[in-house]
Amino acid sequence: MPNLPLPAGFIFGMSTSAYQVEGAVKEDGKGPSAWDWATRQPGGTTDGSTADITDLQYYLYKLDVARMANLGINAHSFSISWARIYPFGAADSPVNQAGIQHYSDMIDYHLQMGVQPIVTLFHWDTPLALVAYYGGFTSPQIVGDFVNYAKTVFEAYKGRVTTWYTFNEPRVFCAQIATYPFNISLAAGVNSTTAPFQCSYNVVKAHVAVVKAFREMGIPGEIAYKNDDFVGTPWRANSTDDIEAVERHTAFQIGVFSEPIYGTGNWPQIMLDTLPPSFLPRFTPEEIAENKGTADFYAIDDYRDQYIAAPPEGLAACINNMTDPNWPQCNQLVQYDVNGWSVGPNPDPDSTSWLQSTPQNLRYSLQQLQARWPTTKIYISEFGFDEPYEANRTDLYLITEDVTRTNYYMTYLGEALLSIYADGIPLMGTFAWSIVDNAEWNYGFSARFGIQYLNHTTLTRTPKRSAFALSQFFAAHLQKNATVNP
Ligand code: NOJ
Repeated sequence: MPNLPLPAGFIFGMSTSAYQVEGAVKEDGKGPSAWDWATRQPGGTTDGSTADITDLQYYLYKLDVARMANLGINAHSFSISWARIYPFGAADSPVNQAGIQHYSDMIDYHLQMGVQPIVTLFHWDTPLALVAYYGGFTSPQIVGDFVNYAKTVFEAYKGRVTTWYTFNEPRVFCAQIATYPFNISLAAGVNSTTAPFQCSYNVVKAHVAVVKAFREMGIPGEIAYKNDDFVGTPWRANSTDDIEAVERHTAFQIGVFSEPIYGTGNWPQIMLDTLPPSFLPRFTPEEIAENKGTADFYAIDDYRDQYIAAPPEGLAACINNMTDPNWPQCNQLVQYDVNGWSVGPNPDPDSTSWLQSTPQNLRYSLQQLQARWPTTKIYISEFGFDEPYEANRTDLYLITEDVTRTNYYMTYLGEALLSIYADGIPLMGTFAWSIVDNAEWNYGFSARFGIQYLNHTTLTRTPKRSAFALSQFFAAHLQKNATVNP
């Protein structure tokens, strides 16, 4: 599609997160995060690794940002580590000036290199002190501490950063803290079943309060959170149960953090109908009014879009039975069609189970978002692929030939162009995950998402095929001399 330019100001972005790339976990006054603790628990990561060093981007950020600039990447979406700014997390605890200075230097270097710095305030690395003290995001006490941290960051970087995210993938985060090893430190009265929903409530409250502060402080720019997941397609096209299962999937997976902000201001009706208030705290009418409209655009980590089916025991049997193993979601993800064919190329089977390469569904995915939660601007705030068996390869020429990832990016971006031109989707940026292999949470280094290979001994970054493919795609489609500031 050589004749389709991207809209003026379109962002060719990369995304990373503090825990996954920074390393230097004990340096310059940083406090420990819940993830620094989790990786030290037995079985905390499948390969036994920690992110103590990972890409050492804390010290090597100039290398990574300069490489981005050379590839034509015009924005980097990274996260700030809360525990570097407030080592103990709490509002009445000291600020770490070295942490403030570090991100200030890093932001300036981005600007100097022409790479727009985009900041996420929270990418899952809760200060450990707050988890130990009151159960982190399972306690409403977190809201005040988070707002205080956000205000400090806004004050420090306002004007230099103009696109902000409050939370990264809050739905995944709230599911994660209900599982081992995080589930030993839940707030009083919260258990593994209720934790995701109590957390969701506290996250929405924190997001809304931070956006309110952002607006009251007159911070220039735009703010939202990074949502994740997708609506999905009924597995059996004519099955009313599968069609209803898609709605359940939508409510629990993507509606939970879309409906309060971009929709009615309340939780999706299906969640309200399924979950008692002891699981899912209810919003008051005042809160519903406050929630609505607390985002300036819609950001989606749009990695894939798959089939959804009713659970084998049937929808009715599941919905009405709290002891059913599929309750309360009562739907299933299916990774092959009714004839048994895979939805798309599959990721590395040793490390990633949720992902498939499904660019054929991207237009549908974005159409669904725009139909359900209309907005004037969409960013694909992350997309990427875990190349099959890459971690098993030792020769560099085998590692850098990442053909499945390259195919994913190129077909996906072709569909993105069609979304813009044929479907009128207001897509204004895509952010590839990620600039270099990094610490993939509980999978450690066994899952690789980088467009550059990381040599863990020398910390050398080597571009893979996909890095050049992305660079060439955007060189061909970005409009020259267009600025990327909102
Ligand atoms: C989304 C998450 O935000 C990021 O932290 C993770 O590494 C990627 N998905 C890949 O799984």
